[in-house]
Amino acid sequence: MRRIKEENITLGPWDSTRAEKLGYEHFMLKEIHEQPKALRDTMGARLREESVFLEEIGLKDEVLRSLEKIFIIACGTSYHAGLVGREALEELTGLPVEVDIASEFCYRNPFMPANSLVIAISQSGTTTDTLVAMRKCKARGAKIIAITNVVGSTVAQEADYTLYTRAGSEIAIASTKTYVTQLVALIMLALQVGLVRKTVEETRLAQLIKGLHALPNQLEELLGQASPIAELARKYASHEHIFFIGRSLDYAIALEGALKLKEISYIHAEACAAGEFKHGTLALVTEGVPIIALATQPHVFSQTLGNIQGARDKGAKIIAVAKAGKDELGELAHHLFEIPATHRLLSPILAVVPLQLFAYYAAVERGCDVDKPRNLTKSVMTE
Ligand code: AGP
Repeated sequence: MRRIKEENITLGPWDSTRAEKLGYEHFMLKEIHEQPKALRDTMGARLREESVFLEEIGLKDEVLRSLEKIFIIACGTSYHAGLVGREALEELTGLPVEVDIASEFCYRNPFMPANSLVIAISQSGTTTDTLVAMRKCKARGAKIIAITNVVGSTVAQEADYTLYTRAGSEIAIASTKTYVTQLVALIMLALQVGLVRKTVEETRLAQLIKGLHALPNQLEELLGQASPIAELARKYASHEHIFFIGRSLDYAIALEGALKLKEISYIHAEACAAGEFKHGTLALVTEGVPIIALATQPHVFSQTLGNIQGARDKGAKIIAVAKAGKDELGELAHHLFEIPATHRLLSPILAVVPLQLFAYYAAVERGCDVDKPRNLTKSVMTE
């Protein structure tokens, strides 16, 4: 049996499905490792040396200049991308931004001014909950931009504008490469709107453009460190409850990490805003309970440290994900995974990788059907 060294995967006899997996054991692992290419393809000619170029969407400058409010509607992993998109749009455009789970949005009656832009995020482009919410927004006169991975999908057909991610086909039910490409699409869109509205300062633009260019190589660097994450996942795979905590964008990543873990390994994984943890969920922490703590956001790092200390004092096993060089975490965490330095708005694209790999290897250890988890489908076309 031929062994692929970095993954220690033994290759069985080659068949068409295995060939499509290019030697990976599962489509999900293949798609996790395709993320650097997916980012390069999605950024492509849209990301120039010193700016972004999204003229293909057809969003006229005068429409962007007259914008009064932005809404984001999506489900599941796409909703988690929307939470990151909100911070990027607020920070780079100065506009009010609301993000809603599409199925819940329909029960609200938010103030939607005439010049509202609704961003509908859906990798499949056929999610019924998102389509229903989109149609309600359209009926109220809002302009719709779809961010989707499927050309000509229903969401793309019904939207006024479409920004395609170029992740390539994603077979595994768990979204991975479509998620990180949604994030870069949202950040490029936020930059485009901000540049037209003149709300992006030069230094921040330069930092983000430089950071976007660096992402694919940084992702490759992270993917090369899969083995220790696989080992840790096998160590904790027998736990039935695992918690994820984080503040600010780290909370959005905690939500995505918990969803990845629960949907493919069937471990009860729960995300909690780190500041909220002490308001109740901490009661569930007993000796040895694993907590995956995201600590990549500089402006909330010290508060997150305090939350991690509080959980550790109750006996939790701390698995931390943070930017390189945070020595104080080394003392506090039982296990520490470091991500390369990048702009805080780009950290989620890197921080999610250890969580995707953790979920994958835990699911394999538990003998789960990683690519086709029970009860789930790749596109949910029911309300
Ligand atoms: C993500 O891993 C899940 N498969 C699921 O939550 C998914 O993100 C959700 O159903 C939304 O799908 P969409 O992006 O195709 O609209």
